[in-house]
Amino acid sequence: MKDRRLSIRTHGRTGNMEEKLLELTHVSKRFPVGKGKSIDAVKDVSFAVKSGESLGIVGESGCGKSTIARMITGLTEVSSGVISLEGKVISGLDRRRQREVYRHIQMVFQDPYSAISPRMSIGTFLEEGLVHFGIMDRKKAGKEAENLLKLVDLDPALAERLPHQLSGGQLQRVVIARAISIHPKLVILDEATSALDVSVQKQILELLVRLQKEFSLTYLFIGHDLAVVRSITKQICVMQEGRIVETLNSEFLTRDAAHPYTKQLLASVFSVRE
Ligand SMILES: Nc1ncnc2c1ncn2[C@@H]1O[C@H](COP(=O)(O)OP(=O)(O)OP(=O)(O)O)[C@@H](O)[C@H]1O
Ligand SMILES: [Mg+2]
Repeated sequence: MKDRRLSIRTHGRTGNMEEKLLELTHVSKRFPVGKGKSIDAVKDVSFAVKSGESLGIVGESGCGKSTIARMITGLTEVSSGVISLEGKVISGLDRRRQREVYRHIQMVFQDPYSAISPRMSIGTFLEEGLVHFGIMDRKKAGKEAENLLKLVDLDPALAERLPHQLSGGQLQRVVIARAISIHPKLVILDEATSALDVSVQKQILELLVRLQKEFSLTYLFIGHDLAVVRSITKQICVMQEGRIVETLNSEFLTRDAAHPYTKQLLASVFSVRE
């Protein structure tokens, strides 16, 4: 049996599972694009994610998905509206308070190679967050890095390797392990499986589902593929041109979809199979 005893288990979860962990209220983003012009990338978006659940955001390229993720993580300022985590406003914080808050929100992007310095070993990458946030000292973190690799079904010997010595799928597992190692309250996955081939994508989705159960993780899962997003979330916000046009229960998508854009997305998913 695999050793999955990790320190992250013992950090314990706080808060009631029914509580809203993340809430966006009338959030908009307008980017200036020169000559007095601007783009409304996100328009009046409101949604909430409960602790321990997973919410999907789906929509075509350029509809504002990553901008939402960037505003939640403080990389992009909101133009208007409010973002709160566990009932506390986190949009518009000063730098010092940003640092305190954003350790609780981890992001996983499409390209795992961009998440790790090419010269950093996998082991050091996994140790970094644990040491940086004072969760454990370097020596203990080395052991924990091996446990984290096992947790995501990788050989602990990979700790010695450099990023380019792993496949994209293996490296994305490492990035996921790093994201959850510091026990974040929220994990945002922005097209985290989009670059992987279908079979690897499925394995990573299964891993994410298992980790969510094991550690009561809360996910915001962003993607353009409705079938993929649906497979891992309870609720899905469908976005078009910066707006949420519909929010649906993943289980009853086909039954409940009312907006023409959602129906179009559904048709493009299911016509392939029929
Ligand atoms: N820093 C920026 N300055 C100006 N415009 C931006 C900026 N960032 C994003 N945009 C614009 O905002 C809109 C939404 O972009 P965003 O990256 O959020 O889309 P997306 O839904 O994540 O797309 P994709 O599926 O291709 O990743 C696009 O029109 C984009 O060009
Ligand atoms: Mg994007």
